[in-house]
Amino acid sequence: MARFFPLTVTEIRPETRDAVAITLTPAEADREAFRYVQGQYLTFRKEIDGEELRRSYSICTGVDDNTLRIGVKRVQGGAFSNWANTELKPGDVVEAMPPAGEFNAPIEPESDRNYLMFAGGSGITPVLGLIRTLLLREPRSRITLVYANRSVNTIMFREELEDLKNIHLGRLAILHVLENDTQDLDLFTGRVDGAKIKRLFNGWIDPQSVDMAFICGPEPMMLAIAEALRENGIDNSRIKFELFKTALRRNGKAAASVVEDDGPKVELTITLDGTTRSLQMPRKGVSVLEAALASDMDAPWSCRAGVCSTCRAKVLEGEFELEANYALEDYEIEQGYVLTCQCHPLGDKLVVDYDQH
Ligand code: FES
Repeated sequence: MARFFPLTVTEIRPETRDAVAITLTPAEADREAFRYVQGQYLTFRKEIDGEELRRSYSICTGVDDNTLRIGVKRVQGGAFSNWANTELKPGDVVEAMPPAGEFNAPIEPESDRNYLMFAGGSGITPVLGLIRTLLLREPRSRITLVYANRSVNTIMFREELEDLKNIHLGRLAILHVLENDTQDLDLFTGRVDGAKIKRLFNGWIDPQSVDMAFICGPEPMMLAIAEALRENGIDNSRIKFELFKTALRRNGKAAASVVEDDGPKVELTITLDGTTRSLQMPRKGVSVLEAALASDMDAPWSCRAGVCSTCRAKVLEGEFELEANYALEDYEIEQGYVLTCQCHPLGDKLVVDYDQH
């Protein structure tokens, strides 16, 4: 089964000086594969200078928009994001895996919930997808967005957010916090940290009324916000995170030479696309994903840093440890799911199934 599908670029719209919104259209036969849930992302692959890069970008459209659009912000030294911002043009074809990710909550059309959303920089991308969807699918719910940026010039989707606020009067409140630009109230200038959140909770946002919180941005911001939310009685079950995907990322090929070392081995059994294979992997220094790739198995991956969950699989047997996890929720770990790029065996045997979703 092909994991990557061709998508035609049908529009590229500049959002800021260093960010674009890219509209993509799947082939007619692949439309069903690219039906998405709000807040999900796409993983792209692209060969640049002889190296295969994989990058994940969140979908910024809502499920009723009938459009598939992502936001790509240029990062310094980022080969893929620079290429997408400067060379990519309408008519080009890119390759992507079907939508994935769990940054959402089930829609309840009858409920009148209060959502609190925090976005930092391009972390707005999946949050915009949530907002667009919830405003239509939960007509009685309200959303407060706290959106942190360096300056007014770097605010992505600024006009679109304003339009949504005007169309859905009284249901979407937006608080812009700008690091470098002075605003009328000093509360809205500077970084979004724990102290800032406490001040926001003191008069601007009533934490007691929040039913569900979504946070997408750089890790320090997310941790500070989550802590402030917990201090105000909003427990983890009502907080959803999506780590800013460019914050952590590794490139590189599979560690083929490491897999061929002479040290003690572990028997690794992998099921992928309906086929089961057994192989030997070193006891130390190699992840399950690297072992699979080094054995020419087409295992899915993107960030290789425990962020995106593209490499998610279920461990059916054996002890293991996860080096890092920025993507899986507690209940997924309890069910045996792992990020194979971060998964290292602890015993003599490990059985992993990529086909159990
Ligand atoms: Fe992104 Fe493993 S490849 S979490």
